[in-house]
Amino acid sequence: MPTVYIKTFGCQMNDYDSGKMRAQLAADGFTPAEEPEDADLVIVNTCSIREKPEQKLHSFLGTVLPQKKVRPVTVAIAGCVAQMAGKELYAKYPKVDLVFGPDAVHRVREMVAESKVRRVLDVDFFGEDTYPFPTDVDPRSDGVAGFVTIQKGCDNKCTFCIVPSTRGIEVSRPAGEVVDEVRALVDRGVTEVTLIGQNVNSYGLKATSAGNPQPTFAELLRSVHEVPGLEILRYTTSHPRDVGDDLVACYRDLPKLADHLHLPVQSGSNRVLRRMKRFYTREVYLDVVSRLRAARPSLVLTTDVISGFPGETDADFDETLTLLETVRFQGSFSFIFSPRPGTPALRLLEEVVPHGVASERLQRFQAIQRKIQVEEHKKLVGETLRVLVDGPSAHDEGVMCGRTSSFKTVNFPALDGVARGSWVNVVVGAAYANTLRGTLA
Ligand code: SAM
Ligand code: SF4
Ligand code: F3S
Repeated sequence: MPTVYIKTFGCQMNDYDSGKMRAQLAADGFTPAEEPEDADLVIVNTCSIREKPEQKLHSFLGTVLPQKKVRPVTVAIAGCVAQMAGKELYAKYPKVDLVFGPDAVHRVREMVAESKVRRVLDVDFFGEDTYPFPTDVDPRSDGVAGFVTIQKGCDNKCTFCIVPSTRGIEVSRPAGEVVDEVRALVDRGVTEVTLIGQNVNSYGLKATSAGNPQPTFAELLRSVHEVPGLEILRYTTSHPRDVGDDLVACYRDLPKLADHLHLPVQSGSNRVLRRMKRFYTREVYLDVVSRLRAARPSLVLTTDVISGFPGETDADFDETLTLLETVRFQGSFSFIFSPRPGTPALRLLEEVVPHGVASERLQRFQAIQRKIQVEEHKKLVGETLRVLVDGPSAHDEGVMCGRTSSFKTVNFPALDGVARGSWVNVVVGAAYANTLRGTLA
């Protein structure tokens, strides 16, 4: 039996694509290898969102390519760096057998077969009417949680972001396929499903040559919510500009819709938001938050923030800090701005923020974020939380881990009879910045 090892960097889209490749290759007899050294085929699925993840490709190849001297192994570069710089990578690494972008994932079997006779480079994009969403289910999706793509690409043009050029134009996946894949996951025992896309709220809104046969995102949520056996419905990522009243109403009407929403804000300053071309203001963002909280008072919000966007002043960043304190996000991913090739923000680079300044801002943000998380988590001590059991802790067999609908990780002592995928009630005894600890009620 041939074996495949896939190293995945980047976001859920890449995780999902890696799963689709595993599923398709399984049809040719490939089984997953635990280590690259044991695999006949090694695929590195790359991310180019910032410079750092992009560099990981080169260090990974540095460990894999020397193996070609001692054994036959096929090596492929996939994902967003391949899409962005495919031709350069193909020329730079003559020992790499395949280079292909995200739009070629559905062709992985064909390309691997072709690579036996010649090197393969495929970085073509599909048109919106012909985009093939692979339907095979990742053989590894036997856990409690699973992902289902509802959309590919992105039509926004946030000036810092490389995704539109690595993932191409936005295409919504037919709703029937989305619901079918959710059903297939639930049949395998998955109870928590996350619908993924770069801008899920714009699902189905784009006029297509066939008119507009898609439901809206809110309608799609309602259909998926009906799938029997599904317990928690999540989605990511949503853009604050497109949170309409129909989506807000879902938080009032759909009990399986998670008590958590990741709503990236990027900056609290209107001047910076304008230069990022995010198309909302701080006031619009705060209004979205208050409408959501009116519909679902228990909703927990998390966000993404960038520090050191070109031209950002201390006063601008102070507005990001006051926004954090106003909304009281309970988690965030925060990044130092990283200039990306071909993005419009490169034109603003004469106003570059020195790395030291951006880093100091980030640290101030993260300190406040941590303080808020501890404060919010302390409020839960003594409360009984409903927890979906994920399984034993990776560090301690005697500890079970689970998640609340609000995406809090809760640890509790393992007990016989508490199975993965079941719901338990846990009384919170201790609160930390990133986790809660408790005992079974
Ligand atoms: N589509 C999502 C949205 O609109 O918020 C996010 C997509 S991106 C994969 C995830 C996060 O990476 C962004 O929210 C942003 O904070 C960060 N990011 C993207 N480009 C960046 C850059 N050039 N430098 C630093 N952070 C960046
Ligand atoms: Fe990038 Fe903006 Fe699209 Fe998100 S919405 S993927 S940040 S261009
Ligand atoms: Fe990275 Fe591509 Fe995702 S750039 S964050 S893997 S869409």
